[in-house]
Amino acid sequence: MLVQTRRSAGPALGLFACMTALLAALGASCSRQDATIDLVAVGYASWRPTTEVVLDYEIPGHMDSLRRIVMNETGFQFKEGPAGVSFPEGTVIVKEILLAGSGDGYGAGPAYGVGGADGSRGRPNMITAMVKAKDDPRAQGGWIWLMKDPESGMESVVGQDLCYRCHLNANEAYPYADGNPAGQFRDFVFFVPGKDEPAP
Ligand code: HEC
Repeated sequence: MLVQTRRSAGPALGLFACMTALLAALGASCSRQDATIDLVAVGYASWRPTTEVVLDYEIPGHMDSLRRIVMNETGFQFKEGPAGVSFPEGTVIVKEILLAGSGDGYGAGPAYGVGGADGSRGRPNMITAMVKAKDDPRAQGGWIWLMKDPESGMESVVGQDLCYRCHLNANEAYPYADGNPAGQFRDFVFFVPGKDEPAP
């Protein structure tokens, strides 16, 4: 089913279907339920965003959605060297996904996520996350890939490689952020802080 190649930034059809299913319902066939883990801290919503870009454009596999990405302080200690970008052990990056038509501020643009005048913010329909844990048997590319249901708090580690395979594209040139024109190794992260604008 997973036929996406490293080179293509677009989705394979099967990948799209699977991702759509993942977003539509936790516990879809491509995820593994594991109620015992608690990898995304409850207070994550106060973490700093990794980008100021409003992520409301369409990307493969996400349907019509608005996204917001935040990262814990450990992650902001990431290093950049000749081998590329590297995030430290214990980094947690969380992406909230708000689907169109779900209300709660969708369509309000920047007001979502950064907080309204009254401090309110849209509620996500889905939370996806990457946790840097190189030696964890569930890790792929050094990261545990998971989804969290905002309602129940239930976390599901993604056992299949659909997240990992699409995020491989972050280590080559891709159509988001600065585009990674040199194909720098980005540790599977599309929005590395400070690299969210294309070069002029
Ligand atoms: C078809 C491609 C694709 C798939 C599959 C995919 N992602 Fe992503 N992901 C992206 C893109 C593109 C971004 C950049 C931010 C945006 O525009 O939403 C991103 C961003 C993220 C981020 C923020 C870190 C970053 O790279 O900037 C997290 C966390 C994340 N995805 C988790 C996941 C998880 C967990 C899965 C599997 C359930 C997954 N993703 C599957 C394309 C994908």
